[in-house]
Amino acid sequence: MASKYAFENLFRTPWELLIAIIAFSFGSICILHHQTLALSANMGVMIAMPCFLLALIRSYQGIQIWLFKKRLLLLKSFAMSTKEVPVSKQHLYLGKGFTWLPIHRQRLHLLSMLENQSYIQRNFLYRFVQKRAKDYPKGICAKLTTLRFLPFRPMPEIGGKAWLHGVGSDKEHNIYVNQSNRNSHECTFGMTRVGKTRYLSIKVNQDIRNGDAVLIIDPKGDLEVMQDIYCATKACGRLDDLIITHFGFPDISAKYNPLASFSNVSEVASRVVSAIAGSGEGQAFKDFAWQYVNIVASCLNELGEVINYKTIAFYIKRPEILLITYVDKIFPNIEAGYLSDIQEIIDENNSRVDKDGNPVAPLSRSIAIKRYLTKYIEEHATTGTQKQLMDSIIVPLYNAATLDKTYYDKITASIGPVLDKINQTQAESIFSFENSFGLPEIKLEDIIKRKQIVYIGLDSLTNKDMAESVGQAIIADLVSLCGRIYSEAGSKTTSLCLHCDEFSNIVRDEFVNLLNKAGGAGIKVSAYTQTINDLGAAFGNNQDKAKMLMGNFGTISMLRVSNEDTAKTFTNCLETIQTRTSVPSTMANDKPDGKNGDLFTTYNTDTILQTGNAIIEINDLFSLPKGQAFVMTNGGELYKIRIPLPKNDGTAPQTFETVLSEVNLCFA
Ligand SMILES: Nc1ncnc2c1ncn2[C@@H]1O[C@H](COP(=O)(O)OP(=O)(O)OP(=O)(O)O)[C@@H](O)[C@H]1O
Ligand SMILES: [Mg+2]
Repeated sequence: MASKYAFENLFRTPWELLIAIIAFSFGSICILHHQTLALSANMGVMIAMPCFLLALIRSYQGIQIWLFKKRLLLLKSFAMSTKEVPVSKQHLYLGKGFTWLPIHRQRLHLLSMLENQSYIQRNFLYRFVQKRAKDYPKGICAKLTTLRFLPFRPMPEIGGKAWLHGVGSDKEHNIYVNQSNRNSHECTFGMTRVGKTRYLSIKVNQDIRNGDAVLIIDPKGDLEVMQDIYCATKACGRLDDLIITHFGFPDISAKYNPLASFSNVSEVASRVVSAIAGSGEGQAFKDFAWQYVNIVASCLNELGEVINYKTIAFYIKRPEILLITYVDKIFPNIEAGYLSDIQEIIDENNSRVDKDGNPVAPLSRSIAIKRYLTKYIEEHATTGTQKQLMDSIIVPLYNAATLDKTYYDKITASIGPVLDKINQTQAESIFSFENSFGLPEIKLEDIIKRKQIVYIGLDSLTNKDMAESVGQAIIADLVSLCGRIYSEAGSKTTSLCLHCDEFSNIVRDEFVNLLNKAGGAGIKVSAYTQTINDLGAAFGNNQDKAKMLMGNFGTISMLRVSNEDTAKTFTNCLETIQTRTSVPSTMANDKPDGKNGDLFTTYNTDTILQTGNAIIEINDLFSLPKGQAFVMTNGGELYKIRIPLPKNDGTAPQTFETVLSEVNLCFA
């Protein structure tokens, strides 16, 4: 049975056991009835010893084959409580499994043959009992399926082909990846309901109990994840470091303004407009929107006003008001005669009369300011002080405020709906706030500095557009933070574990940027999604961009997928190996002349054929049981794993409201 032979076949009767019985029996006869064999007692023992040794070796080999066949169909439940998940600073625990080698492909290849189909079917009795138990739920068979000591209990409801793991489970052990490899980021694919989020929980559990800074972005906002996080945080006494925001529960959620931190104010505009789909003509409107949001954000920044979605939305629609507020605040300090000049313009106008001698309509202050600015800009543009103008925001702001209103509205139309979708949701108070009323405030920089654990639930099932827009802004905020960390001294000591569930909801160009910069800034990204096509759709149906994105992930985990393109992203990276098939052939030739008494001759041969196969085929990924995955890491190491189902220790509150209140209101 060892693989040193040209052909290993475990799908056969374990004849080794027969040899073991014969050897054992003969050994026993040699000792017990040595006289019958004309042996002395000592001789009997001496002959019996090698027979017993042979019996032992053959029994071991036979039992291995028997166990191997039994394990093929074994589907064991595998769960771990919060504290049972192993924790290590050097390694990240993924689950139980084995290194996937060519021999496993070979075994699957043999299993696919007609003569071996019986090994992947449960025995007749089991099937009969299960069928009767379903047909008669109160019958005796139904009772038999509940008895622990009988082999009729139903298999765990995880579906898939158990033998994908069974072909290697004889070598099953704990599987880890090096924590240092995580800087090259990980991506997990899996169709819906196969265990992506539970896998996230297992990893987050370890990051939390390891004492790391952790940020979890969960577009759906899953209660179980929140509870798992709560339990892990409590288990290691870090509840004070935990902050949760869930967009479905703004009154008890932590506050987070994704526009508040930046190194350059122009980043604000990029974050706000990142949610506008931009290709073709749309790109031009996106650029216009960027330009005007940038003007508004720059002014608010110079004025020392809060920059949030609400203030941006207010002023982008009313550039005139911003112009007047800005000029009134800044100009008295830079132009000594500003206030008197404005008054002079108003007085001069109001003192004029029309051709009938009636006083002209009084001049509004805003028009007076515009006239003042027209003159101011002209003067500076022609008197050699253009540089002063160029550096100032005043010219673009003036241009925006004096643009024809209909035209201005048209070119900024793309940004309005995006901002409305954010501002007109109940979650608006999470991003646009002046007073946090004692609720904690999330600042990405603090997460790293104070080693906080932050969970952001975007509640995308209720408001997809808002979740996507804000999710992208969070990523952009992180990119900016990476840039700052990168350029700061001592950045090597920073560390943040970022987990993004359903990341196709928030992936855009900024995410690619994040993956590029994050590793160097000590941020380890773990992203989870369903299909590669979802990523392509997020890039405006640009599948090439999605494939390019995949180039940034050093570790890829594949749970069950049902999409060919997604499966191919994995299988295409794998080697081709040679699988062997034994082809028996028998021939007989008649010899009619019957010379030398030979009437016929026969030949029996076994030919071994080799064919090239992918070490993992697409179909294998389609048939994985729930909670099982193939993992490729560290430049080609390949594992087949069973992920434990996180079974939190039950110390977490039972509803969203109670978890959020307990975590956040202790700050109030
Ligand atoms: N490791 C596991 N072992 C056994 N069952 C599992 C495992 N992981 C997940 N499951 C089963 O699958 C269900 C769905 O898991 P999970 O929520 O993680 O899926 P998902 O891939 O995140 O789904 P969705 O795309 O809907 O978010 C769980 O409730 C559980 O019953
Ligand atoms: Mg999920």
